[in-house]
Amino acid sequence: MNQRSTHSSRTLYIQMVSQLIPVYGEDESRQLAKILFEEHGIAFEKIMIDEEIILDSTNELSIYEKADLLKNQVPIQYVLGKAHFFGREFIVNPSVLIPRQETEELINEILIDNKKPHLDILDIGSGSGCIGITLALELKHARVTAMDIDGAALDVTLKNAQIHGIEISCMLEDVLQLDQLPGQFDIIVSNPPYVMEREKLSMLPNVLNHEPHKALFVPDEDPLRFYKKIIALAKKHLKPKGKLYFEINEHYGLDMIRLCEKNGCACVRLVHDLHGKDRILKTMFD
Ligand SMILES: C[S@@+](CC[C@H](N)C(=O)[O-])C[C@H]1O[C@@H](n2cnc3c(N)ncnc32)[C@H](O)[C@@H]1O
Repeated sequence: MNQRSTHSSRTLYIQMVSQLIPVYGEDESRQLAKILFEEHGIAFEKIMIDEEIILDSTNELSIYEKADLLKNQVPIQYVLGKAHFFGREFIVNPSVLIPRQETEELINEILIDNKKPHLDILDIGSGSGCIGITLALELKHARVTAMDIDGAALDVTLKNAQIHGIEISCMLEDVLQLDQLPGQFDIIVSNPPYVMEREKLSMLPNVLNHEPHKALFVPDEDPLRFYKKIIALAKKHLKPKGKLYFEINEHYGLDMIRLCEKNGCACVRLVHDLHGKDRILKTMFD
């Protein structure tokens, strides 16, 4: 039976914050506890006035379970099953990368350049679907195809498309094995895996231990492998005046420019992210 128990909201909050402090420090722990409480319908004002709160046993269990996951450095987005991207909510789970702010900047670049309706767009490595779905929502009558190597990730893309009320075509494919794409596109965009294995040493445990390695890493000896392949495919499958957009590893800006130029790309532009790092590369073939 579902039992109900009464708690001092302040005591519960203080307990939770003190459990999180060894992992996150004080400020972040307060913030995380506040988010967890709010997710359970307990507004921060109730904690401030120490209002008694009633938790039923499932609710109580789940708030403690979530706090435990946070203690184990599971990112809050996986704990809650959702993340915010470009002003919208996307469901996430550990089979997809948590959408990043840099990727919102990539979207911004695409929206500045492309105003026309009815664009055909391919998102390679769709993960949560945040890129393709956002473009479908922001650009009038865009037709979006999402590709990922991982079936569980594509399920998340599809669920998010349903939640946001749009139709997209999904392809379960390894882009590295493809010689053709299914059609011609106005925009090909990709935020492929681009972290080198050797960068693991400097990564935070919440990313390294919980986000999918398939989404993150490339071999040190061939860090541009996805870009090489996608440029070759784009050369054949971009419509006239079609554009190619990449999110890139900040250490490879110049190499990416060289790679594009070597492959006959025109109008190659490297764009910094808000931290001043080389992050977005855009180009075309005519
Ligand atoms: C960096 S994540 C990007 C996810 C999402 N587009 C975003 O920006 O948050 C890279 C994605 O590429 C997918 N991926 C990895 N290798 C792939 C391959 N060989 N072919 C197609 N997709 C691949 C991963 O499963 C992952 O979802």
